[in-house]
Amino acid sequence: MQKAAVESEERPLEDEAATLALGARLAGLLRPGEFLGLKGPLGAGKTTLARGLIRAWTGDDALEPPSPSYTLAQIYEGPAGVLWHMDLYRLRTPEEALEIGLEEALATALCIVEWPERLGPLSPPSRMELALRDDQGRRTARLSWFGDAAARRKEFGFL
Ligand SMILES: Nc1ncnc2c1ncn2[C@@H]1O[C@H](COP(=O)(O)OP(=O)(O)OP(=O)(O)O)[C@@H](O)[C@H]1O
Ligand SMILES: [Mg+2]
Repeated sequence: MQKAAVESEERPLEDEAATLALGARLAGLLRPGEFLGLKGPLGAGKTTLARGLIRAWTGDDALEPPSPSYTLAQIYEGPAGVLWHMDLYRLRTPEEALEIGLEEALATALCIVEWPERLGPLSPPSRMELALRDDQGRRTARLSWFGDAAARRKEFGFL
């Protein structure tokens, strides 16, 4: 398994608003062509984080982005470009991600991916991963940078 090149500290997420705010903050730094995996068990806050990120990306605070757990992917547009929100929990094989357009997404869009471990060998070597945890109600987040994405670590100084 590929090792993270750099990792942030584990940061507390006191409430749902903190998870949404972290997503919004990440939206200001991420760009099309980048990949952010959202890891963590069922209910850890992956979709909540993605919602905060998508609202900031589109500039639409009233948006209620649905969880793409059945459609696998939802596509959004913002001033900075296209964003794909994927939830790969139901993916049966990594190759199925190619059928929903993974390669186009990686080449053209910011990819926000719940359950990125489902991609197996198709996981992009240059990527970021946010690990969300819920330890008896104490929620936390830790960001890791893999491969060339590590060059961006200093821009995420708040983490
Ligand atoms: N920091 C937080 N503190 C307390 N509750 C939170 C926090 N972040 C998210 N939640 C709540 O946790 C619940 C589950 O969140 P969410 O649906 O985002 O999880 P998920 O990781 O996407 O789950 P799944 O694996 O089922 O897709 C929601 O009710 C959400 O409001
Ligand atoms: Mg979810």
